Amino acid sequence: MAKLLVLTLLGLGLKLFRDYQSSYETRLHAFREVKPVELPNCNLVKGIETGSEDLELLPNGLVFISSGLKYPGIKCFEPTKPGKILLMDLNEEDPTVLELKIIGNTFDLSSFNPHGISTFIDEDNTVYLLVVNHPDLKTTIELFKFQEEKSLLHLKTIRHNLLPNLNDIVAVGPEHFYGTNDHYFINPYLRSWELYLGLAWSYVVYYSPNEVKVVEDGFDFANGINISPDGKYIYIAETMGSKIHVYEKHANWSLTLLKSMVFNTLVDNMSVDPVTGDLWVGCHPDGMRILFYDEKNPPASEVLRIQNILTEEPKVTLVYADNGTVLQGSTVASHYEGKILIGTVFHKALYCEL
Ligand SMILES: *[C@@H]1O[C@H](CO)[C@@H](O)[C@H](O)[C@H]1NC(C)=O
Ligand SMILES: *[C@@H]1O[C@H](CO)[C@@H](O)[C@H](O)[C@H]1NC(C)=O
Ligand SMILES: *[C@@H]1O[C@H](CO)[C@@H](O)[C@H](O)[C@H]1NC(C)=O
Repeated sequence: MAKLLVLTLLGLGLKLFRDYQSSYETRLHAFREVKPVELPNCNLVKGIETGSEDLELLPNGLVFISSGLKYPGIKCFEPTKPGKILLMDLNEEDPTVLELKIIGNTFDLSSFNPHGISTFIDEDNTVYLLVVNHPDLKTTIELFKFQEEKSLLHLKTIRHNLLPNLNDIVAVGPEHFYGTNDHYFINPYLRSWELYLGLAWSYVVYYSPNEVKVVEDGFDFANGINISPDGKYIYIAETMGSKIHVYEKHANWSLTLLKSMVFNTLVDNMSVDPVTGDLWVGCHPDGMRILFYDEKNPPASEVLRIQNILTEEPKVTLVYADNGTVLQGSTVASHYEGKILIGTVFHKALYCEL
C-alpha cells in the first residue's frame, strides 16, 4: 500500500513536471522555425561585436547604443571588460560608431554594466541620458548630460529599494522615469524557477525624486518600456507572456490598461517612431536558444513593425527575420529616414534599407 502511494505520488510529480515542462516550452516558443525575411542593403555595423542591447535614437539621427551587457544566464563575448556607450550618426553615408568618453567620474567605470537607456531633451535642448547600470549585479541609474564635444558628463547615481533589478526605463524628465523590474539579478535560482513556472513577479515602477511607486505588477518578465510621441500612452513588452500592453498615463502617473496584443514570438523591446508613432519591436522567436547559447545553433532574430497601435485594428508586419546566421538575438530596432538599425543582446548590430 505504502509502495503504491509512493509510486502514485511519483507519477503525479512526473506528470506535473511534464506539464510544466511543456508549458515552459510553449511559453518560450521552443520549437518554432524561423522563415527568413530579408531586407535590401544590410550591413553589420563596424565596431559592434559584443552587443547593442539598447538603442536610443534622437530626432536628429544621432543614436546612443549600450554595449557589453553582462546579464546572468545570457551569453557575453567579453565578460571581463566593462560595458560602454557608443554613438552613431545615421545622417552619415556609411555610419561608424564612436565610444563616448565619460567624464566627471563619480561612479566606478571598471564595473560599468549598461543595460536599458533612455534620453530626455529639455526646453533648452539639453540632452540627458539615463542608463540602467548593473555594477556587481546590483542596479543603479546613472544620469548623464550629453556634451557637444561627444562626451557624457556624469551628474548623479540614483538607487532605490523599489528598483532592485531594473531592465529598461523610459524617461519622462531628467530625473523622472518608469522602469521595468525583472528580478533577474537578485538570485539565479529564484530566477530560474520564476522563468520556468511563469510566476509573473515582475513589475513596473514610477520614479521621481519626491515619489516612487509600483504602478503595475504581475508581469511574466516585463522588459522593454516606451512612450507614445504625445506622451499620453506607455507601452510595455512582457517578454515571456509574448505580449505588448498599451496603457493610458494619468496626471498622477498611474497607468490604466487599454489593450494587450499577443504575438507568437518573445517580444523584447520596442522603439517608437517620433514621426509616425509606429512601434519597431525586436523579438526572440526561439527563447530556448537565447537562454541556452550554442554557437552551432544560435538564437534567431525577428523585427516587427506595429502601425496604428491605438486603433481597433493595428497592422503588424514582420519586417525582418533571420535564423541567427547573420544576426543573433535581436532586441530592438529603430527607424530613421527609410533605414533601420537592429540591435542585439550580445551580438552585432545590423543596418538595412527598408
Ligand atoms: C529599448 O528600446 C529603447 C528605444 O530604442 C531604448 O531606449 C532602450 O534602451 C531599450 N532597452 C532595452 C532594455 O532593451
Ligand atoms: C490617478 O488618476 C486616475 C485618473 O484620474 C484615477 O482613476 C486614479 O484613481 C488616480 N490614482 C491615484 C492613486 O490617485
Ligand atoms: C539558416 O538559414 C541559412 C540560409 O537560409 C541556412 O544556410 C542555414 O543552414 C540555416 N541555419 C540554421 C541553424 O537553421
